Order: sequence, then structure tokens, then C-alpha cells
Amino acid sequence: MTGKTVVITGASSGIGAIAARQLARQGARVVPVGRSQNETFALARELGVEAFVADYARLDDVKALANQLLDTFPKIDVLAHNAGTMMGKRTITEDGHEYTLQVNYLAPFLLQHLLHDRLSTSKAHVVVTSSLAHWFGGIHLDDLNFDKRRYSTQAAYADSKLADLLFAREIASQSPQTGITAAAFHPGVVATRVGRDAAGVLSVSYNTSMGRAFMFNQEKGGGNLVAMLSHENQNGINGQYFSASLISNRLISNARSSKQARDIELGQNLWQRTESILGL
Ligand SMILES: NC(=O)c1ccc[n+]([C@@H]2O[C@H](COP(=O)([O-])OP(=O)(O)OC[C@H]3O[C@@H](n4cnc5c(N)ncnc54)[C@H](OP(=O)(O)O)[C@@H]3O)[C@@H](O)[C@H]2O)c1
Repeated sequence: MTGKTVVITGASSGIGAIAARQLARQGARVVPVGRSQNETFALARELGVEAFVADYARLDDVKALANQLLDTFPKIDVLAHNAGTMMGKRTITEDGHEYTLQVNYLAPFLLQHLLHDRLSTSKAHVVVTSSLAHWFGGIHLDDLNFDKRRYSTQAAYADSKLADLLFAREIASQSPQTGITAAAFHPGVVATRVGRDAAGVLSVSYNTSMGRAFMFNQEKGGGNLVAMLSHENQNGINGQYFSASLISNRLISNARSSKQARDIELGQNLWQRTESILGL
């Protein structure tokens, strides 16, 4: 990874922060992006690099982030769409979208769009942090915001992670035209603070010592992200979904994914619907 420019979102904590540290040790030019100023800049100071801050609940922040990255980096070799959250109560952002969907999927989609030309000329590799939770998700093109359906943390999170997987696969399918490769992965069930705003079973899992006792530590989850970002055969894994084993936490390539996650037409429809939602 020596000399490669690697942009990692969600780098202020959890698996993103671990991956940023590991890749910096491997000689990569790591670009951490976080929401919290204090933590993102503290990590940047530790690594001696420049960092960027954006709240994905505000699409104006994503646009500003894209401009800053374009102004600063003539080449982006690797991009990790890793920022993510779970929201306990249905919340609509100032941009008019369900919060979890915006942070986990719409904002990365917008960033990808705004960076497209730079990623394309860089022949970049993109990694999307999806989740095993995608198995419980469904894409409702006519109700992405939970206007008609009953909201729960689990449903919103699962839907967003399914959208992430379809997003990665659609980027991958465009690879012959764009030169950008992409893969998605589940990093393992890792004891991070991802569930701090969750409700229900996900809150119990992530926010109690009992739930966390069954999770892998952040070094392991971060190591899986590093493995995805530094994979030696980026063309070979284009479009693949990797999943960390529930038992060993070892990454399994070509992992099984849900029926909707393999639906090429659904991926294309979601892509078009997302462009229309974001006015692209
Ligand atoms: N932990 C697991 O078991 C697990 C399993 C499957 C998938 N994942 C996925 O792994 C990724 C990393 O999560 P993690 O487990 O490492 O949790 P984490 O420690 O909570 O890290 C999440 C990262 O996302 C950022 N983020 C959250 N809300 C944001 C917003 N509104 N705008 C911009 N950035 C925001 C956080 O920034 P701040 O801290 O600065 O707010 C943080 O850097 C997420 O996509 C998550 O869904 C995790």
C-alpha cells in the first residue's frame, strides 16, 4: 500500500480508525474522514496526516467534502465507504430522507458520484462496508423513507446495508466503462459504538456488556477492512461480497448474499431511483 492514497470514511472510531492506523503503518497515504471533529483530528495528528470532517446527515457537508478531496488529492487509489449508523427513532434529515438510509447509503452514493471522474482516472478500488444484516433487508423503491411501513432500527439498518451491497455491485458492473472496481463486505460482529443511537435488540446487543461479550474486538474488524482495501487482486474481487465468519471472523470470499442482493435489475433500478432522489 506504500504511497497509495486511501480515503476512509467513518475513520474517527471503530473499524475505520483501526484500518487507518494499520494502513498508515503499511505506508499508505491515509485520508481519514469522520463526523466528530475532535476524534477525527486527533487521529490525523497521531498519523501525521490531513483529515476531513462531514456529517452525512447533511448532504451539503458531503458536497463540501467532495470539493475538499478533489482540491487536495490529484489521485485517489482506494475509497472505503465505511461510515455507518443505526437510528432508534425514525428521523427525517433536513434533506428529507430517512436518517439511516441517508447516512449509510445516500451520502456515500452522492460522494461516489461527485468523485467519479477522479476515481475513474485513478482506476480506484472502492470498498463498501455492508453487513450480514442485509439478509433481513428489503428494497421498497416506493417507500425508502418508511412513510408507509412500520419503522424499526433493525429494518432501517438492514435496508440500508442491502442498498450498500447493491450499490457496490452496480459500481462493479460499470467497471468496464469506468475503470473503477468495487467490492462489499461484512466486517464481523464487532464491539464498536455503531449501536449508540439504536433501539431494540440492536441496542441491547451493542450497548450492554452481555451483548458485547459475544462480539469480536475492533482490531479484528479493522483488520478485515484492511484486507479488503489492500486486496492484491482488485479486478478479481470486483462485484464480490465478502463476509467474516461468525466463528473465526476470517473473511470468506464470494460469500452468500440474499436474493435481492443478487438481483441485477433491482440494483439498476435502485441506482436510477437514487440518482433521481438526489437530483443527479
Ligand atoms: N460493528 C459491527 O458489528 C458491524 C457489523 C456490520 C457492519 N458494520 C458497519 O461497519 C461500519 C463502521 O462501523 P463501526 O462498527 O466501526 O462503528 P463506529 O465505531 O460507530 O464507527 C462508525 C463511523 O461512522 C461515522 N458516522 C456515524 N454517523 C455519521 C454521520 N452522520 N456522518 C458521518 N459519519 C458518521 C462515525 O463518526 P463519528 O464517530 O465521528 O460520529 C464513525 O466514524 C459501519 O458502516 C457499520 O454499519 C459494523
